[in-house]
Amino acid sequence: MRTPIIAGNWKCNMRLDTAFELAAGLKERIDGIEGVEKIVCPAFVHIPSIEVALTMTSIKVGAQDVHWEDDVAATGEIGAAQLEELVDYVIIGHSERRHKFGETDDAVNRKVKASLEAGLQPIMCVGETLEERQSGKTDQVLVRQTTHGLRDVAMPDGFIIAYEPVWAIGTGTAATVADADQAISLIRREVADIYGEAAAGTVRILYGGSVTPENITEFMAVDGIDGALVGGASLKVDAFSRIVEEAARVRS
Ligand code: PGA
Repeated sequence: MRTPIIAGNWKCNMRLDTAFELAAGLKERIDGIEGVEKIVCPAFVHIPSIEVALTMTSIKVGAQDVHWEDDVAATGEIGAAQLEELVDYVIIGHSERRHKFGETDDAVNRKVKASLEAGLQPIMCVGETLEERQSGKTDQVLVRQTTHGLRDVAMPDGFIIAYEPVWAIGTGTAATVADADQAISLIRREVADIYGEAAAGTVRILYGGSVTPENITEFMAVDGIDGALVGGASLKVDAFSRIVEEAARVRS
């Protein structure tokens, strides 16, 4: 049995007071919900405060990126060992990192390894652009990003991957459930090729891209989809809470 996950990616949004209010509101609404792992990923500078706001709750905190080295001259970066003191999870290879900041598959792979070594749980993101989809390259891109990201990685049970088609992120147009299911099945098959069926059966693969309280139900109804990585809708207490509540209801 794979425990589903609903993770909120707060990206570069909000001032500290708003982020704090959001955390306090979520504590009230979703702390008591069982059967779903709940994660919020604030901006680096907000992590310590949000961590305090959510102490002793069931809502976990994650980071949005990580550097692959510790204790080196890397101005502006934050290492996995530093992050591990504060958070449990880290998003790696988000499409905005890949496409706005030129992050490569190789960098993703280094970050995954460094995070696991430090005791963090990576949420490794993969996904094709619209152009890649339209030119029939979706499978090729997903296989490349998955296998390269996991190269020489000793993958623990329950490892988390997020399938996020770039064209669905922040656009209001989510993938169809059929497309998401197909992509996620392909990713799981790739993982099975590397690590075997049993290990692949434990990997949590989330869908991300314009997830809302309205469309979460159909995604959660698919066995192979183990939850969601949520951007825009994670910035509102009510929307994110409804997504968590619905995910728990569908899977209970
Ligand atoms: P969105 O973002 O829910 O706003 O589409 C998803 C993501 O970037 O993880």
